Amino acid sequence: MSKARLIDGKTFAARLRRTVADAVTWLGTEHNLVPGLAVVLVGDDPASQIYTRNKIKQTADVGMASLHERLPADTCQIEVLNKIAILNEDRSVNGILVQLPLPDQIHPDTVIDQIDPAKDVDGFHLLNAGKLVTGRPDLTPCTPQGCLLLLKETLGDLEGAEVVIVGRSNIVGKPVAQLLLQENCTVTVAHSRTRNLAELCRRSDILVAAVGRPEMIRGTWIKPGATVIDVGINRIAGSNNTTRLVGDVSFDEAVEIAGAITPVPGGVGPMTIACLLANCVRATCYQHGLPAPDLSSSVA
Ligand code: GUN
Repeated sequence: MSKARLIDGKTFAARLRRTVADAVTWLGTEHNLVPGLAVVLVGDDPASQIYTRNKIKQTADVGMASLHERLPADTCQIEVLNKIAILNEDRSVNGILVQLPLPDQIHPDTVIDQIDPAKDVDGFHLLNAGKLVTGRPDLTPCTPQGCLLLLKETLGDLEGAEVVIVGRSNIVGKPVAQLLLQENCTVTVAHSRTRNLAELCRRSDILVAAVGRPEMIRGTWIKPGATVIDVGINRIAGSNNTTRLVGDVSFDEAVEIAGAITPVPGGVGPMTIACLLANCVRATCYQHGLPAPDLSSSVA
């Protein structure tokens, strides 16, 4: 059996960022608009600090304005809600992202639902989640969008494909399922209580792993030739006191069986921020009554 094709998210994401940068230039020259993204970070979770730093840097790199709001870990919920209310009213801010997870005293759903749905570039607000479920997608979550773009690039038309998604989070599992249903896939969402998980996975043409457990999905769970999308980013101990990043799939085993697979790092991860930037351009266009450019067709 030959080795699986590697799905190069880094290259696809760079291409998408260039398309976004072109759209930002068009908005500036034709409409005198500079999309603005506000990133709110509460507390000092080390991973969240790295993610928000990358989001802010890439926002500036494509020519958009970026606003970083840092709040201390002991901030109370009402202060976060007040901050969002101010950003909702600020016309220079077209997209608002509150980095998750939040400290325990703050309820994430309450915070997310305070964001103006038109500025909800994460696509997590109840209204945007409801639009996705009812087949009227508007601003959709970024990591699921990234998974979909990589699948279309790899396989073309997805109609009729048997998909198993391992993980049922609101951020990844559930919205990926909705996006793939829209593509006419047959979708099963599996989770920690699913019986005969390995057997279920082995029946899928497309396996999406978004469970947050390092290397849980073994090579023997994969149907020969299947496409594997690994959303997991887990830091584990390596040799000589080092650490390394691994996905939710045992890559060395899976690469021998799958037809195509995303590596970790360099697979889904880079797509998330590129899709966030694309959502910010879309949000800016919608807010100004402009047609949003088709940002995803340049990738597929
Ligand atoms: N934490 C982990 N992933 C995400 C994401 O996509 N958006 C936000 N806001 N927080 C996250």
